[in-house]
Amino acid sequence: MSKQASTKSPPVCEIESINEPFCIVIFGASGDLTSRKLIPSLFRLYTNNILNDNFFILGAARSNLSNEAFRQKTGEWTDKGNKDILDRKKWEAFSGRLFYTAIAYDDVRTFKTLAKRISALEKKHKTGCNRIFHLATPPNLYEVIIENLGASGLAESKKGFTRIVIEKPFGRDLESAKKLNASILRYFSEDRIFRIDHYLGKETVQNILLFRFANSIFEPIWNRNFIDHVQITVAETLGVEHRAGYYDKSGVLRDMFQNHMLQLLALIAMEPPNLFDSIHVRNEKVKVFQAVRAYDSDSMSGNLVLGQYARGEIDGNRVAGYKDEPGTDPGSLTPTYAAMKIFIDNWRWQGIPFYLRTGKRLKRKISEISLHFKTAPDHMFRNFPVGITPNVLSFIIQPDEEIILSFQTKIPGSKVCLSEVGMQFSYKTHYSSLPLDAYERVLIDCVLGDQLLFVRQDGIELTWSFLAPALQIPESSEKSLFRIHGYRAGSRGPREADRLLNKDKREWKLNI
Ligand code: BG6
Repeated sequence: MSKQASTKSPPVCEIESINEPFCIVIFGASGDLTSRKLIPSLFRLYTNNILNDNFFILGAARSNLSNEAFRQKTGEWTDKGNKDILDRKKWEAFSGRLFYTAIAYDDVRTFKTLAKRISALEKKHKTGCNRIFHLATPPNLYEVIIENLGASGLAESKKGFTRIVIEKPFGRDLESAKKLNASILRYFSEDRIFRIDHYLGKETVQNILLFRFANSIFEPIWNRNFIDHVQITVAETLGVEHRAGYYDKSGVLRDMFQNHMLQLLALIAMEPPNLFDSIHVRNEKVKVFQAVRAYDSDSMSGNLVLGQYARGEIDGNRVAGYKDEPGTDPGSLTPTYAAMKIFIDNWRWQGIPFYLRTGKRLKRKISEISLHFKTAPDHMFRNFPVGITPNVLSFIIQPDEEIILSFQTKIPGSKVCLSEVGMQFSYKTHYSSLPLDAYERVLIDCVLGDQLLFVRQDGIELTWSFLAPALQIPESSEKSLFRIHGYRAGSRGPREADRLLNKDKREWKLNI
C-alpha cells in the first residue's frame, strides 16, 4: 500500500487523446467559471497534447469584448491557476483558437449570427461540425438559451455531433428541474445532454468504484453486517465569495447537497453494476436514490441541522459573516451549512445511518468519506485495560488524496495494550503523474461522448424530491419547524451537528 510496500514502480495510465475535431461554444464566457475553470482546463489539455489541432473555442456573452480582450482576460486567469509558469508559446498557439462574440440571450437573431460565425470558424479550423454548447451562465438563462439554440437551428446535428453541457444546479426543486429538462429535451436527446457534477470528475471520487469493485476483500464486508455507520464530510474555508446573487437564493442544500453530497453517497452505497459503463453505473446510482428513506417535514427537521456563518477568522484573517457579504440580504435565512442523517432502505444498508455534512467558512478545507466498522467483541480482553476502537476506512477526497485503513496493534511491551494505527495510501507519493483536474476530465469525456461521469435526469428528480421537505424548511412560514444555527467563521460549524451523532452515541471522526 505505502510506497515502501510496493515492489513495482507505479504503472502509467495513458490519458486518452482526443482525435476528433470539435468546437466548444461557451455561453457565459465573460463569467467566472469560464475564466477560472473552463479555459485553464482546456489549455492544460492542449499543452499536454490531449487535444489535437482541429478545435476552437468560441466564447459568447452579453458584454462587448474583442477576441483580444477575451484572450487577455482568460490568459491572466490561466496564468494564475497554472501549476507551472504559463508557457507563452503554447498560450499563443492555444489562444489563436480562442474567439469571442457578444450575444443577446433572448434575441434569436443574435443566435443566427452566431451560427454564421460558427460555420466560418469551422471551415477555417476544420472541426467537421462537431459542436458542444456549454452553458456556463447563471441558471436562470438556461431555458432561453436552449430555446434560441433550437429556434436558430443550432441544436440540430446535420453532419457531426451537437451536444449540450449544463452546469449544476439543474433547477431549484423538483418542478423546475422537470421543466428545465422538458425544455432541453425539445431540442436535444438524452444521449446529447451532459449534466456536469464536477465532483464526479475528481480522481479520488472515481476511485471509489474501482476500489470497491476491483478488490475482492472489501466488498464482502461492505454492508450492514459489518459497517456501523458512514460519514461524509465536505468542509470548505471559502465563503460565498462574489456569488451571493446566486447563492443567497440557493443555499447549501441546493448548492452542495442535491448534487455533490448525494452523488458521493450513491457511489459508496450502490450495488456493483453489471458493466462499468454509463448506463449500468448510472442505473445503480439511481437505485440508491430510490431507496433513500423519504422524510416528511417533521422527520426531516429531526434529522437535519442547518447553519449560517457569522463573522470570524480564517487562517488568522478576519472574515465577514454571511449576512455582511456583498450582495446577501441582511435578513437572509439562507443556510451555508447542513448536516443530515440519511437511511437507505435496502438489503445492504437497512438500519445503517449515513451522516453527511458540508459547510462554508469552516476551519479547514477537507473532503472525506469514512466507513466505520462495527467494534470487535472485547470480551476476551476483559481482564486488561484495553480499549478497542473500531476499524475505519477513510477516503480522503481532497486536498491530500489518500486512503487510510485504521486497525489495532499491540503496543510493544510486557503488558497488553492496544494502539490504533493506519495503513495509508497516498496518491502523491505513489503516483508521479499529475491527476487530471475534475474539469479536464469531464471536458474530455464530453468530447468523447462518454456520459458515465455525468448525471442523469431520473437521479436528479429523485434527489430533488428527497430534499423537498428540507428546502421548505427555511422558506416555510412556520418558524417553529426550524432554526438556522449561527456558527463562527473558522469554527467547526454549529454544535447541533454534533448532537445529531451524539444522540446515537457516535461522534464525527473529523475534527474540522
Ligand atoms: C461548487 C459549489 O459546485 O462546488 C461551490 O457551487 C463550492 O459553492 C464548490 O465551493 C466546491 O468544489 P471543490 O471542488 O472546491 O470542492
